[in-house]
Amino acid sequence: MTLRPPYRNKAVKEGFAAAVEEINNTLRFMAETGCRGFDCSKESLKTIEVWGRKEVFLPETLEAVRVDLGDCRRCRLSGSRKNIVFGSGNPHARLVFVGEGPGYEEDQRGEPFVGAAGQLLTKIIEAINYTRKQVYICNIIKCRPPGNRNPMPDEINACFPFLGRQITAIKPDFICALGTFAAQTLLETKEPISKLRGCFHDYMGVKVLPTYHPAYLLRNPDKKRDVWEDMKKLIKELG
Ligand code: URA
Repeated sequence: MTLRPPYRNKAVKEGFAAAVEEINNTLRFMAETGCRGFDCSKESLKTIEVWGRKEVFLPETLEAVRVDLGDCRRCRLSGSRKNIVFGSGNPHARLVFVGEGPGYEEDQRGEPFVGAAGQLLTKIIEAINYTRKQVYICNIIKCRPPGNRNPMPDEINACFPFLGRQITAIKPDFICALGTFAAQTLLETKEPISKLRGCFHDYMGVKVLPTYHPAYLLRNPDKKRDVWEDMKKLIKELG
C-alpha cells in the first residue's frame, strides 16, 4: 500500500516531514525510557479529557480549609494554645476584618475579637452599619502567642496559607486590615501602619484598607479619629 502524505506544496511537505520526525523521536524516547504501549481506551481518554477543565478543581470552602487545618501542629504555638481561633461570621461576607492573632479571651473561647479590643471592633463594625454576623472576622495567625507576644515570621508563614484560602473561599470585596501585622503581612511590606492606613491596597484582587488595631486605640484613644476617617472611606466604597 502506498501512503499518500497530505501535502500539496514544498512547504507543507517539509512541515509534514518535520512533524513525522518529531513523532518518531518522541516515540523512540518513550520506548527507551520504558514505555511499552498506550492505553487509548474510551474510558482512559474520558478520564484524561476532564483534567484540563476548570470544574475538576472543587471550589474552595471554609469547611474544607478548616478540615485541612485539622488539629494543627505546624508551629510551636500549638503547644501552648487552648483553642484554634479559625474565624467567625458570614462565609460570603463582602467585608472581612483581619486582626493579628488571638489573645487570652479568644484562646479560651475559640472566637476572634471577643475581649476588650473585640468589643471596640464590634462598635467600629456597627458604626459602618454592619453587624458582626454580616462580616467575617479572622486573624493572621490562629493560635495565641504566649503572653500575647508578637507572632514570629515562621509562625506567620505556617498559618498564612490558611488565611489565603479563607479569603479565596469567602471572595470578599474588601478586607480591613487591623494593625501593623495584618497590614504588613497581607501587603508584603515593611511600611509602618501610619503610612499604609487610609488608602486602598490590593491583596489577590481584593481591596485592602489598613487601619489602626482596636487594641492600639484602647491605648491611644486620640487615634480613633483617624480610624473613623478610614471607616468613612470604607462606607463610601461599600456603597
Ligand atoms: N487581637 C487580635 O488581633 N485578634 C483577636 O482576635 C483579638 C485581639
